[in-house]
Parts: sequence; structure tokens; C-alpha cells
Amino acid sequence: MLTVKRESKVSLTQQVYEQIRSGILKQKFTEGEKLPSTRELAASLGISRNVCLEAFDRLITEGYLDVRPRSGTYVAKGITFQREEERSHPVFPARVSNLSKDVIDFRAANPAMDHFPRKIWGRLLKEVCIDTPEEAFAYSGSEGVRKLREVLSQYLLKIRGVHCHADQIIITAGATQALYMISRVLTHHNDRFIAVEDPVTDEMRRIFSIAGAKVHPVPADEEGIIPESLPLHIKPSFLFTIPSHQFPLGGTLSIQRRVKLIEYSRKMDTYIVEDDYDSEFTYEGVPVHSIQGLNPERVLYVGTFSKILSPALRIGYVVLPPYLVNRFRELKWYTDRHTSSLEQHVLARFIEEGFLDRHVRRMKKIYQKRREALTASLREHFPSAKILGQSSGMHLVVEFPGVVFCEKVKELLHEAGVLVYPVEDYALNKGAHQQKVVLGYGSLTEKKIKEGVNRLSEALQRIKEAPS
Ligand SMILES: Cc1ncc(COP(=O)(O)O)c(C=O)c1O
Repeated sequence: MLTVKRESKVSLTQQVYEQIRSGILKQKFTEGEKLPSTRELAASLGISRNVCLEAFDRLITEGYLDVRPRSGTYVAKGITFQREEERSHPVFPARVSNLSKDVIDFRAANPAMDHFPRKIWGRLLKEVCIDTPEEAFAYSGSEGVRKLREVLSQYLLKIRGVHCHADQIIITAGATQALYMISRVLTHHNDRFIAVEDPVTDEMRRIFSIAGAKVHPVPADEEGIIPESLPLHIKPSFLFTIPSHQFPLGGTLSIQRRVKLIEYSRKMDTYIVEDDYDSEFTYEGVPVHSIQGLNPERVLYVGTFSKILSPALRIGYVVLPPYLVNRFRELKWYTDRHTSSLEQHVLARFIEEGFLDRHVRRMKKIYQKRREALTASLREHFPSAKILGQSSGMHLVVEFPGVVFCEKVKELLHEAGVLVYPVEDYALNKGAHQQKVVLGYGSLTEKKIKEGVNRLSEALQRIKEAPS
């Protein structure tokens, strides 16, 4: 019944072992059945007896076979069971990009991957591996590496006016994990409701829903969330806002609106969750300081290194009011023990030795040029289009009068080799943003940006001219 292939890369022992083992599991050999002796098997297969002895030994050690003295080798009892039918599809097929290389994708999520400071990062990583004490290679506290938290608290004070002690910071796997943990800690069984600015990224909305919360939309305009639209009839577990550069509309929240949010959170006795994800890149004027700095007791401040450096690092953080720290430490421990310590040591050095400041200064110039290339091309091809939002970050929103970005138009643009992202897709209350699209420029070269706008212009022209 057994066969072997001498030309196979799999050893003869492994082949014999596998065939007997799978024969037992598939019940081709039944429990209690006597197997041929190793000598007989070796002779019938034309192989050395030692090969069969080795395969049998392994099957005996693993419990598949029993040796009965002076009798022979038998299939052991208690190892066959009814197997479940195999599913024909994997439950969660991995997301595979079906984008051809030639498609120009104005997706907002990615920073300029072509400018990651590879050499410096590589050097620091090597130094960390060689110089750091052994403890760095052990488990560390769930809150993250102390050195990084200390450096970060100083950096955040200087750059964003965030007031905190290092102990108030928990290092997370990106803002995504921080926001999931916040939803878990702050929402309760009979109080699972979060006030979220609308429109908002679909990722953030999904994080809140998966954590079991209901999302209540609060309209945002070109200046960010509208405080007058906050719900008064019901108390949200927290209010989620991206005040530095609202995603997607691009507004920067004025100090007057920030104060109103604080007044609201006090009146309703709730929290503000401030996502400050691309605040470092402001191209005109000075960046407005964080809401956290105005009222550290009410604000959970979330940041990430995904935009400023790379999403591949998976390093973000949350700055907490002191009385919430222990609950977050505990949840982080149960979630994944802690974020990679070695990467945290590298990042601490990167900040401390001034490389982050330098990198941000360099990237600001690059993003500004990319933004200018985009706005110039848009003005050239679409004189009546309106560019919305603050001159900052890595994306902008354009309103194209007379064009509705429905699924069909999106498809036709894709066919023309350009991907754009309708604001309507991010809206919770539909209908107000049909003529607007988000264009991310962070990861596109100036040449690609110009080519992308060119394709957009030609395709929209064809769509307009096509008989309806
Ligand atoms: C609003 C917002 N905040 C933060 C992030 C960053 O997430 P992470 O730090 O997990 O990469 C994203 C991702 O695109 C985002 O859309």
C-alpha cells in the first residue's frame, strides 16, 4: 500500500512516517490493526530496514503505534476521530491589492516611503543591539520603554504644547490600538455611545464599532467639528476629534471651538479624545497647540509615528489623565504584553539625538513641494475647482462643481488609471459632500501627481461628454 519516491526532496523516513500517520488519521489503518514488520515493509518498498525502524520509532513516540512484545506493531487506540468537513474558502482571505503598478493612487494613508531615514535608523538599530543592557531583550512594562516615554513627554511639550509626565504615556501599536483601547476602557455596557466628527476615516469609525460602541455623528465643516451640533440629550462616553487637520475635510479647529469642546466635556462630564496624527506638517502659519494642553484632565491625546516616520513601525501612543493610566496598562498587557522594546529604544535615540526634528524639517519641504505640485496642476486643469482645508498634512480635499463622485465615476476613473477617494465615502450622514474628493499626495512624487491630475482631467472630460 505504501510507496516511496526516491527522487523526492523529502527523506525516505519522512515519506514512510507521513503515509502511515495520514493513513491512521484517515482510518485507512484502523485502531488495533497489526502493521507489517519493519523487515517486511522494507523489503516490499525496496528500502533499508533502518529507514522503516526510524519511521516506526517516531510513530511509537508520538503515540500512533503500540508495540506488543513478541507479537508485533499495532495501530494505537483512541486516536481516530470524525474529522470536520474542510471549508472550501478561508474565513478571512487576506486583502490583496489589485492595483496595477501603473495606477496613480491618491490614497491619503501613506507617507513618503521613499524618504524613510533608512541609514540613520539602521545605524541606531545596530547601536541599540550592541550597546543596550540585557534587560532590553526581556519582557518590559506594558506601558512601554521608559526612555521613550521621557523623551516623548519633552518632545510633545515643545512641539504640541502637551502637558504630561512620562508616566501618563502608554506606547501602543499605532493610533489604531490606542483608539481601540480607549473605546474599550471608556465605554460601558449601558453607555456605549461615542460622539464622532462627521465625516471621519472609515478605519476609526470601524474601530469604535468593533469595540461595541454606537457612533453618533457630529457635523464638521471646513474649520473642523461644529461644537453647537454636539448632542445634549445623551452623554457620550467620549468625543472624538482630529483638531489639527481634520480628516478628511482638512480644517484646523480654532481656539474658540476648542474652548467650546472643553466646556461641553465639563458640562457633560465626559472626555475628549484628540487624534493629532499629522500635526507636525503645517506649511503656513504656526501649528495650533493641542487641546490636551488646555485641559489635561479631560483629554486623551493620541499620536502616532505612522505619518511622521512610517506605518511599518507600528508605534503610537496615548497620553492619559493620571487616574486612567492603570486601566490602560492592564488592558495593554492583556492585548499584546507590550510594543516591541527594541524599536522603542531606537525611536528614543532618534528623537533624543535630534534626528526627528531634522527629519520633520526635511519632510515638510518635500510635502510642501508635493502639495504645491498638486494645487498647481488642479488650478491648471480645473480652474473652477475649490481646494478646501488648511495648508498642512499630506492630503487635501477638492470640490469639483457639477461632478458627482458616485461608484460608476469612481470605476471609470480607476479604468483611466487614477484612484481618488470621495468624501461621501467617509460621511456618516450622506448627501452633503458628493462633489468632493480627498487627494493624498504624501507618497506620490511630483511627476506622478501631475500625471494623476492629467488623467483625472481627461477622464472627467470623457465622462462629461459621454451620452447619459
Ligand atoms: C484619523 C487617523 N488617525 C491615525 C491614523 C494612524 O493609524 P496608525 O497609527 O495605527 O497607523 C490613521 C490611519 O490612517 C487615521 O486615519
